[in-house]
Amino acid sequence: MASGVLRASLWCVLATLACAGNVNPPASSSNYSAPSAPAVGSNVACKDKDGKRPSCTGTCPASCPQQCLVFCPGCRTFCRPDQVRRAKKPVRPAAIFIFGDGNLDIGNGNVLASGDYDVPHDEQQTLDSQWVMTDGENIAQFIAKFMGFQGSPPAYLTLPRPIHVGKGFTGINYACTGAGLRDLDPNLDGWLTIPMSKQLQQFAATRAQMEAKLGGAQAVTALLAKSFFLIEVGGVDLTHYLPYPYTPTEVRDLLALYGDKIKSLHSMGARRFGLINVGLIGNSTSVGGGYDVADMNKHATEFNDGLKTLMDGLAKTLPDLRYSIADLYTFTETVFANPSNYGFEDTQSPCSQSGDSSQPHCDNPAQYWFWDYYGYITEHAANLVATAFFYGPPQFTAPVIFRALLDEK
Ligand SMILES: *[C@@H]1O[C@H](CO)[C@@H](O)[C@H](O)[C@H]1NC(C)=O
Ligand SMILES: *[C@@H]1O[C@H](CO)[C@@H](O)[C@H](O)[C@H]1NC(C)=O
Repeated sequence: MASGVLRASLWCVLATLACAGNVNPPASSSNYSAPSAPAVGSNVACKDKDGKRPSCTGTCPASCPQQCLVFCPGCRTFCRPDQVRRAKKPVRPAAIFIFGDGNLDIGNGNVLASGDYDVPHDEQQTLDSQWVMTDGENIAQFIAKFMGFQGSPPAYLTLPRPIHVGKGFTGINYACTGAGLRDLDPNLDGWLTIPMSKQLQQFAATRAQMEAKLGGAQAVTALLAKSFFLIEVGGVDLTHYLPYPYTPTEVRDLLALYGDKIKSLHSMGARRFGLINVGLIGNSTSVGGGYDVADMNKHATEFNDGLKTLMDGLAKTLPDLRYSIADLYTFTETVFANPSNYGFEDTQSPCSQSGDSSQPHCDNPAQYWFWDYYGYITEHAANLVATAFFYGPPQFTAPVIFRALLDEK
């Protein structure tokens, strides 16, 4: 599911007109408050579907303000981190720069779909950047909020040119629905997206503008060293770009591309990276017939293992590189094994049957993991994911939780 875009959305961008409904703003999420995780005092159980491990039960501790999270196996409980008043606020980064695919996109895909791309943007044409393929906020927005910002920095394509990089600048979100580590295959003619290579070019352009505004490379280097770089990419390559079944070197080739991107960002001044790995793609609502669930998940695992090795190696060679890899795969697996512990009633089908957010959808999106058939997740799911990666518990991020990455000098 990590990938964001699924097969259906490919069709959508191929036939933008037919899918015009997709560019409507999502249904209001005004009814959404907090995920319905176990309340204080309630009992929770973890069952191992395969029967390999013993089941367990736990009680959501009274020391938590309202709700807790329970992680299986073992039934360890944690107070919901976003409900706990923290003595120490996280060190807010100077800015956040966000790259990758649809799970982090807050409007770039929308601009592409609206056909306004390449039209010079002036103040009057600033586009509504509210379109997100979920019932509310996505992972990028939650993580930015936890860092002390009002939300994700704006989507690159929605910004008037020249981009304002002066006072109040909080970074830029370059992530785009459908983006891969690979450039577009010409066979996917008509798929509108901004691949990682192009997102990095856009960052380079932003950087040049910052240099002019801040008065030189040194000031920019200092600002970027104190900034946070959030990336989620790879899932779209594995679900859509590659001929299936994959060739044996496919995953290795993708990781080589990923390494190039990290090196390139580092050479431009990026130092602190939060990377989200590829989720349980075989079980995404985006995956249609013809794909083997286990095989797809195996490739995701291979990619994720390779990403660990890659970053471990880069950290030894690139000066001052700090990173954390968030394990979306294991997190998803954990939630899917015991959905009700996290407030979910359904982790298989999407809340929105049509994939068109202007059409009727399920009554309570917070009970669903998937928002739509494209594999996008609900606000509830995004909140949980972001909470786990930013605040912990620590088993889903390595070597440190995102929050600790900010505190490191
Ligand atoms: C919010 O809840 C009310 C009452 O349950 C319901 O009538 C309304 O349709 C809900 N709004 C949304 C956007 O789901
Ligand atoms: C993924 O899908 C397969 C096939 O439908 C299913 O057997 C498996 O339990 C699912 N995995 C999870 C973690 O839900």
